[in-house]
Amino acid sequence: MGRTRAIRLVGAAKRQHIAATEGRRAARRIFPAGLSDRADTGTNERMTSEKLRLGVNIDHVATVRNARGGDYPDPVRAALLAVEAGADGITAHLREDRRHIRDTDIAALKRGLTVPLNFEMAATDEMVAIALDTRPHAACLVPEKREERTTEGGLDIIGGRDHLATRIRALAEAGIRVSLFVEPEPAVMDAARALGAPVVELHTGSYCEAALEADEAHTAHQLARIRRAAEHGASLGLEIHAGHGLTLGSVGPVAALPQIRELNIGHSLIADAIFVGLAQAVRDMRAAMDRTRAP
Ligand code: PXP
Repeated sequence: MGRTRAIRLVGAAKRQHIAATEGRRAARRIFPAGLSDRADTGTNERMTSEKLRLGVNIDHVATVRNARGGDYPDPVRAALLAVEAGADGITAHLREDRRHIRDTDIAALKRGLTVPLNFEMAATDEMVAIALDTRPHAACLVPEKREERTTEGGLDIIGGRDHLATRIRALAEAGIRVSLFVEPEPAVMDAARALGAPVVELHTGSYCEAALEADEAHTAHQLARIRRAAEHGASLGLEIHAGHGLTLGSVGPVAALPQIRELNIGHSLIADAIFVGLAQAVRDMRAAMDRTRAP
């Protein structure tokens, strides 16, 4: 995708996002007409790709619940609503400090869901034991401590190889599909392949920050990193997912990358739900993803 088209897509999606949450007049003011009108016209740049799955991360429903203790709002109820509105899977991160999702949420999600559960977890013995007990469809290994991260935030799979390999093996042997949440760099794709993980989730945080700041050059640069990593990872046989920080305003250009099979999105959906309701927020995100995805 050319840089100009990427920027147009970000602009168009931002206008739609603002229109959905703050009204159409505000959207026109911030992103004048023309950007969105042109955004869908680049059909000659499209290529056939498989359906892009949307994994809805419900962590921040638990954040709201935990602000007051008790059981309300219930993340499982939110998950079921998200599925009804079009989510293809549900993601939940049981953090070591249990700051949002609790152990009982994971068990209840596993019991109640009819779609795949993606269990986000640190690569620790405690979390591996919980995953083996719960048997989610997938486990996404994420860094929780500074020393487990690369400089930009993904899992340090080059420095942390040995530590990860045994955990990946234990999960895979239990039939859990393992993904690694990593920086979008070709060398990291090579390392993921060497570790034997079937899936990588590309960290979109730097791209999303640049898009939020409307820094066009940096947005294009970060998007190009994601595209290169997706192409390289897919050529190695890795299944490519992406996520972190995606909003209605930034999802389009990432959804347009044909190698990406799944997006995991949480915070912006739960935030948008305050204004439009969760079901509508999920439908809006689904529509924003489908708008730029090749048929
Ligand atoms: N993917 C991974 C691996 C994550 O850790 C998170 C955040 O928990 C997300 C996706 C979703 O990010 P956000 O809540 O910013 O959409």
